[in-house]
Amino acid sequence: MCGIIGIVNKTDCVKGMLTALSKLEYRGYDSSGVATITNNKIDYRKVQGKLANLKELIYNKPLAGNIGIGHTRWATHGEPSNKNAHPFVKRNCALVHNGIIENYLDIKKSLANQKIDYKSSTDTEVVAELMNYLIEDGATPLEAMKEITTRIEGNYALVFLLKNSNNLYFSRKGSPLVLGLSKSLNCVASDTLALPNHIDKVIYLEEGDIGEIGNGQAKIFDQSFKVKKNVIHDHISLQSHTSKNQYKHFMIKEIHYQSKSIDDTLLNFAKKNDNKVYLPQFKFDTKKINNLSLVACGTAFHACMISKYWFEEISKINTLVEIASEYRYRENSVNDKTLGVLVSQSGETMDTIKCLEKMKRQNINTASIVNVLGSSLTRDSDYILPTLAGPEIGVASTKAFTAQLTVLALLCIHIAQKKGIFNESTKKITNDLFTIPGNIKLILKNEKTYSDIAKDLIEAKSIFYVGRGPMYPLALEGALKLKEITYKHCEGYAAGELKHGPLALIEDSVPVVVLAPSDKYFNKTISNIQEIKARGGEIILITDKEGAKKSSGLADKLISLPDSNLLTAPILYSIPVQLIAYHLATLLGTDVDQPRNLAKSVTVE
Ligand code: AGP
Repeated sequence: MCGIIGIVNKTDCVKGMLTALSKLEYRGYDSSGVATITNNKIDYRKVQGKLANLKELIYNKPLAGNIGIGHTRWATHGEPSNKNAHPFVKRNCALVHNGIIENYLDIKKSLANQKIDYKSSTDTEVVAELMNYLIEDGATPLEAMKEITTRIEGNYALVFLLKNSNNLYFSRKGSPLVLGLSKSLNCVASDTLALPNHIDKVIYLEEGDIGEIGNGQAKIFDQSFKVKKNVIHDHISLQSHTSKNQYKHFMIKEIHYQSKSIDDTLLNFAKKNDNKVYLPQFKFDTKKINNLSLVACGTAFHACMISKYWFEEISKINTLVEIASEYRYRENSVNDKTLGVLVSQSGETMDTIKCLEKMKRQNINTASIVNVLGSSLTRDSDYILPTLAGPEIGVASTKAFTAQLTVLALLCIHIAQKKGIFNESTKKITNDLFTIPGNIKLILKNEKTYSDIAKDLIEAKSIFYVGRGPMYPLALEGALKLKEITYKHCEGYAAGELKHGPLALIEDSVPVVVLAPSDKYFNKTISNIQEIKARGGEIILITDKEGAKKSSGLADKLISLPDSNLLTAPILYSIPVQLIAYHLATLLGTDVDQPRNLAKSVTVE
């Protein structure tokens, strides 16, 4: 997959494009280039290799302009080389493209009488020549865009720079594009990570959208060329993540940010009611992958454990999940059908990095799900999926955790789609992912419920979290959240495991938080609740409407959350888990954002 940026600025755009391209390198970096217009002439620089080569080229041979396009490439048609690098520059236009034009040879044939001297072996250059021809044939830019998008087949994100125009022209089908708007600068990019900090509004382009973006204006048309109004979202700049604003701690700010961070992640990589996921193209044949090795530490490990249920039930793929500090020493067998997935907020956790090194020695494909682009993990993995949570300051991971779950859910659906096993029921639960941001807001509206529960836990000597299925790893996460910021002892257990020993710890008024949506495990969990109550344990049941009805008075405290399903429940049930830990820690007066003995990124082994 490739990275695209286009900028229309009141001042020079080259520096901004290079900054944006450095944030897009995760999408591919076998060559890169930029093109601008100065004095109505198209100027460009492009070069094979990493972005550093382009920066050096521009340093030695500067170019300028207020309007421009840029690209980082991962080769599909044509080997990585200068001549195959984007942008493709013709007399009247320049083009950057992400995707594959399946009928480019037919288009090339239709232009045969134009005596074109093609410089590359790419599909993209043919589309650039088509635009050039249409403009010379008298079409307006939008007429040309309309003609092009009716003629080309395949998946594409196209951004054109045109002579005699102060606008950029774009279209997307199957490859994402977002618009970034601000007073001084407008832009179009492959994803929100590339947007300059001072962008304040974001528009996620939808399938088939065509349009133009200029200084102070952006127009979007649907495929029948009717003007359309896409939803305009606020863009949160990186700076705003690094101040507490009106919040007492970064942790509570980050807990509240989750409806936005999950919304951003979903909107960047999926589309509501579309049942499709638009993850950057794998660099390997997904159909070949028949087993996963997920490796991480701490909270990221819990996210991997939860996703195991999803990969097995939806992607029908065997999934091993291991703590990094253990995995790196295991003599486990892998094969060329294994995909190694490393999950890390910081991308710098030494144990996880050592596992990536091990996987590379084993010659297996590797994918990293990381919140910090440019970190060590992103530099050495074959494939990177960013979690769009923004910088996470609190040591106790919250928004990064639910962003990891969201990306893992999208990856699981992406694999199911590629394997052709994406059926009606999985389509339904995929759409339900879009209910999460709104439901998180509903839960946060009842924050006092959780601060009240926290008050009742102040005197507890030991606290339990239990759950079944995907709620079992979430029970581990709830226990970790509590331990790391309240310093109280807390155990997370599979609810079905209590009777094999831990039940000996249950006595009068030992609080047990039970995570139990009304799913296929619910009735068995009710039996575990009865075992706990029979020994004097105090039950805090977190369930849904159906579960509340069925638990009929068994719980000492009952919380009913919005309905959920296999994919959405673990993300939704994370919020109460985080709030209970946070409010108990504030009551106990611990250092919530920087708990004792811990670090935000553990770069030692
Ligand atoms: C999270 O609450 C913890 N602070 C810790 O377990 C963390 O998840 C772990 O150290 C892994 O960090 P990473 O995600 O940056 O790799």
